[in-house]
Amino acid sequence: MQKLDNLTSHLSSEYDLQIANTIPYYNFFHQEILNLVESMDINPKCWLDTGCGTGNLVEKALQKFQSTVFILADPSADMLNKAKEKLGDNKNVEFLEPTPSQDISLSDQPSKIGDFRGAKNSTNFRAVDVITSIQSHHYLSEDERYKAVKSCYNNLDENGVYVTFENIRPLTVQGTEIGKEYWRKFQISRGKTVVDADNHIKRFGVEYFPITVEDHLSLLRKSGFSVVEMFWYSYMQAGFYCIK
Ligand SMILES: C[S@@+](CC[C@H](N)C(=O)[O-])C[C@H]1O[C@@H](n2cnc3c(N)ncnc32)[C@H](O)[C@@H]1O
Repeated sequence: MQKLDNLTSHLSSEYDLQIANTIPYYNFFHQEILNLVESMDINPKCWLDTGCGTGNLVEKALQKFQSTVFILADPSADMLNKAKEKLGDNKNVEFLEPTPSQDISLSDQPSKIGDFRGAKNSTNFRAVDVITSIQSHHYLSEDERYKAVKSCYNNLDENGVYVTFENIRPLTVQGTEIGKEYWRKFQISRGKTVVDADNHIKRFGVEYFPITVEDHLSLLRKSGFSVVEMFWYSYMQAGFYCIK
């Protein structure tokens, strides 16, 4: 078996080919995030996508939000390199060095593209209007997950919007077993072998650590957000948005 270069079950070079056969409605997550942000009263000047992977969300977002500057972050250098191949030429895109969400502090890093000092008016402050974290934080322990969400909160400007999708633990033991079988069957229906689908499902609670919707809502409120909403649930994934 090849050694993986990131925490997902796919090599960065195979991620784009495999991911839609692994996560049901994967492409819709991105589309609906864009529709959601478009429906809110914000005209984002700056948008951070943390855990950006190969840059699929930002690739779509650039078409809808043409004057927004996008900052991409990920702890995996290989994922970032794939994202750079896809988006590196775009003048509205910049990349952080490999960094997990927990350690991002944009106020420490002057922008290469533009000045986002906004209302804060302090030398390096970048007023980030939107932060997205899509399927990126479920690898973390409870403490680290809190640090990751709190870091997103801290990096947002007042009234900034945080949108996240994650793998979800159903509310009951029986629901979890049904959910895993439901998800396993999806992967087989999309062409994965039974062995590959089984191996993927075995990662649940072992290589990534889903929490329930209720625990997500509590964590997001505890991190300080004044508005916390769930806007998507399918199979074993859910999407939430929050306003600072
Ligand atoms: C399933 S991929 C999702 C990638 C992308 N967001 C997408 O929608 O395709 C998970 C990504 O989260 C990244 N990741 C893992 N731990 C992270 C952390 N602590 N903070 C931010 N990203 C993390 C991985 O390197 C990987 O690129």
